[in-house]
Amino acid sequence: MSVAGSVRAVTTLRLTEMKQRGEKIAMLTSYDYSTAKIVDAAGIDVILVGDSAANVMAGYETTLPITLDMMIYHARSVTRGAKRALVVVDLPFGTYQGNSKVALDSAIRIMKETEADAVKMEGGEEIIESVQRIISAGIPVMGHLGLTPQSIHKFGTYNVRAKEEAEAAKLIRDAHLLEENGCFAVVLEKIPATLATQVSQELRIPTIGIGAGSGTDGQVLVVHDMLGISNDFSPRFLRRYADLHGVMSKAISSYVEDVKSCDFPNEKEQY
Ligand code: KIV
Repeated sequence: MSVAGSVRAVTTLRLTEMKQRGEKIAMLTSYDYSTAKIVDAAGIDVILVGDSAANVMAGYETTLPITLDMMIYHARSVTRGAKRALVVVDLPFGTYQGNSKVALDSAIRIMKETEADAVKMEGGEEIIESVQRIISAGIPVMGHLGLTPQSIHKFGTYNVRAKEEAEAAKLIRDAHLLEENGCFAVVLEKIPATLATQVSQELRIPTIGIGAGSGTDGQVLVVHDMLGISNDFSPRFLRRYADLHGVMSKAISSYVEDVKSCDFPNEKEQY
């Protein structure tokens, strides 16, 4: 829903239609009003209020510490800025695993308090009861398979997932399970391109890849990474479209210099 309470132009149904016509889906993260406004106006189809906010906004090493209240704060700010794009919010770690009633309560809080359009959850078979319960309540769910950062302590590394046959077979089963249980899309993170292509061809719902090659139905990146705000994260899959770290550093250094040298403010910049 938009700020005015009307449905945003991009809906879950529209994403399915895009897959059917072979039109790729462009998705980016946002965590605040000003960025969401720019991202939305630039024509992005889906804005993800990712729990990567834990890393890029709060400075945590993993996504695990971010809370539901923190996600709601970010999501509320984003939905005020997004008029067109579908807004999807990550259910943070600990708010849906293991107890489907808790999962439903978490998803309901997000939908009621943020005016977002959908939630995203990491995992397959292990969380299917929670997925079913949330979808039964009328809340659209996006799945997330492959490298699921909330399980980093189980994986031990951020390396490519599902290279081995057994893990790839489970991922394919999980993708079908998510589709059969009503998910409207699924993120495939850091898996071999051939596997991502196979899953995308087998599913009717759209797949959105990150580090999963060009065979998925759409792509997602973390906005701070693609804009080059964060300059200490350079995986092979990341394409940088700007060097905002450089631009911001240069601008701030000039400001410091101007203040110290009494160049700023000048006569025209005062009352
Ligand atoms: O939290 C996030 O930003 C994500 C994307 C990387 C898919 O889940």
